[in-house]
Amino acid sequence: MRVLIAYGTRYGATEEVAERMAEWLKAANIEVDIINVKANQWPELTEYTGLIIGSGIKIGQWTKEIKNFIKKKKDAINKFDGSKVFFVCSGYAAIPERYQEIKEEYCLKALTDLGVTVDDYEAFGGIMNVSPSSNVGWLNKQILKVAGKESPNFDPKGINDYRNWTKIEEFTQTFIQSLKDKS
Ligand SMILES: Cc1cc2nc3c(=O)[nH]c(=O)nc-3n(C[C@H](O)[C@H](O)[C@H](O)COP(=O)(O)O)c2cc1C
Repeated sequence: MRVLIAYGTRYGATEEVAERMAEWLKAANIEVDIINVKANQWPELTEYTGLIIGSGIKIGQWTKEIKNFIKKKKDAINKFDGSKVFFVCSGYAAIPERYQEIKEEYCLKALTDLGVTVDDYEAFGGIMNVSPSSNVGWLNKQILKVAGKESPNFDPKGINDYRNWTKIEEFTQTFIQSLKDKS
């Protein structure tokens, strides 16, 4: 069992999720290669039995590198006969009333528009960091502050990390089980 985790991130939230997923996979004795698709060469998918693709969301969009990765690898992803899943880290996914719609829009609809199918997909909350130490620029912080008005318990001066690690672990463990079932 060997898994490729390919992720795209702008501010680091998705990267941390990918790294944590890699740790859970390794703890289950599964070999893992983890790549930031912006910074690394893209390996052939035929080397793997499992595939996890993840992206952060900004103004409704994945990172452009993840979009390019999926476009370029479309045939290989569709032919891939191991386990393959997709996730996003999205600010709006943390708003209970919007979660289901956001999950379908940023995962299923976006993948379907590119003609790609996966076995499972999920939208996790992201980080809405409006603190003084934030790596988000001033203008983008103003966008976040407006968007944050909809978010539960939003602190207009805080880090606002909406990632639910229990849910992320459950998603990863389900993926691990499906890998084992297929091996
Ligand atoms: C300028 C800006 C625009 C954003 N737009 C959206 C959006 O349209 N929908 C959404 O769900 N989240 C949005 N977010 C929240 C991000 O999805 C969240 O910060 C996520 O953690 C980003 O992932 P990354 O850190 O891996 O890049 C936005 C964040 C910023 C800074």
